Amino acid sequence: MIYADFNGSAPLCNDVSKYLVKRLQDGPYANPNSIHSLGKKIMFGMEKCRRSLAKTLGCETNQIIFNSGSSEGITQIFNSLLQENPSKEKNIIITSGIEHSAVVQCCEKYQATGYNILTIKTRENGVVDLGHLEELLRENGKRTALLTVMAANNENGIIQPFQEIGKLAQKNNIPYFSDTTQYIGKTQFNFSESNLDYAVLSSHKIGALIGSGLIIAKDPSKLVPLVLGGGQEKGLRGGTQNYIGIETVAVAMDSFEQNKDKLKQVNDLRVKFEKNIRAKFPELVIIGDDSPRLASTTMISYPGIHGQAVQIELESQDVFVTTSSACSDNKPETSRVLKAMGIGDEVGRGVIRISLCLGTTPAIYEKIEVALENAYNKLIKIKSF
Ligand SMILES: Cc1ncc(COP(=O)(O)O)c(C=O)c1O
Repeated sequence: MIYADFNGSAPLCNDVSKYLVKRLQDGPYANPNSIHSLGKKIMFGMEKCRRSLAKTLGCETNQIIFNSGSSEGITQIFNSLLQENPSKEKNIIITSGIEHSAVVQCCEKYQATGYNILTIKTRENGVVDLGHLEELLRENGKRTALLTVMAANNENGIIQPFQEIGKLAQKNNIPYFSDTTQYIGKTQFNFSESNLDYAVLSSHKIGALIGSGLIIAKDPSKLVPLVLGGGQEKGLRGGTQNYIGIETVAVAMDSFEQNKDKLKQVNDLRVKFEKNIRAKFPELVIIGDDSPRLASTTMISYPGIHGQAVQIELESQDVFVTTSSACSDNKPETSRVLKAMGIGDEVGRGVIRISLCLGTTPAIYEKIEVALENAYNKLIKIKSF
């Protein structure tokens, strides 16, 4: 079986599996906030994880707030920076057309309370148009309450120039949040060098146990809690911390750190795979072909062949991919992200996403290549649109 949907949810990485087997057998289990010695031991372990994560993520320990994952983190950041009824002086949110639905829905929520949403144009190569952003900032910078542009796109892996965007945000004194869910743990990231005010991490995208994550906040005092409770996380996130999940996040990030020298090799494998498959089917379109992309994400389309049909064909050969993203897999139409790039239905309805990890080997790509070749050869005969 080949699992090629790491951007949807990554299986536990080997180091995490090994850690968990022992951890679950040995314990201890306790509430980290209890004052007995077992509670203290758990708290000590959790704070050790915070220190280790601060080191790998390039931030201070007090800038990390543990939570349940990115959707929660994104919602908390929006809720902290925006109000239910915006003032006339600060009533604009600047975003892009390629954001994940968690950001889109937050924007829509605040739009309904009176904010104006300005959308930065996306160039055909999938990268936001910095010139357009500068124009938007010149005209509306003073009234902008939040700038939000993701770091790497979940569907196609295209990387956005978040450091440059962060510089523009700083120049205009606007808080900048970048959805780093697909970036962190898949490529090198250092918060202190990122020019971001807020970033998020999700455990199940990096090979840790699903259900935990974190916010990194440059100035945590600007955050307000979304979940109220017993004052955990310095009052910024109520509820007993998912300490085993947190431990696995630290193990997964540590494992990434140890193996990050493999990034180039994985990138080379992807490039070779894309070249091979296109040599066999010259009509194939690779989304963001020449754009900076995550090492292990390919979004590919055979115009006129439905992505879902390809996905089913691949699954029958034990290769698991998605169409655009796990969340929008059930909609057989061109995704919002691809539309923002100016991609029409002919290509947009044909896409599949192949997303892998640092552990990818040549044999994995070879098997995908064979399966894809079989699928296309079969489906070309019955082109569906
Ligand atoms: C870019 C991006 N942002 C946010 C999320 C939401 O993450 P979570 O599943 O941790 O809530 C995802 C997950 O699909 C994602 O890919």
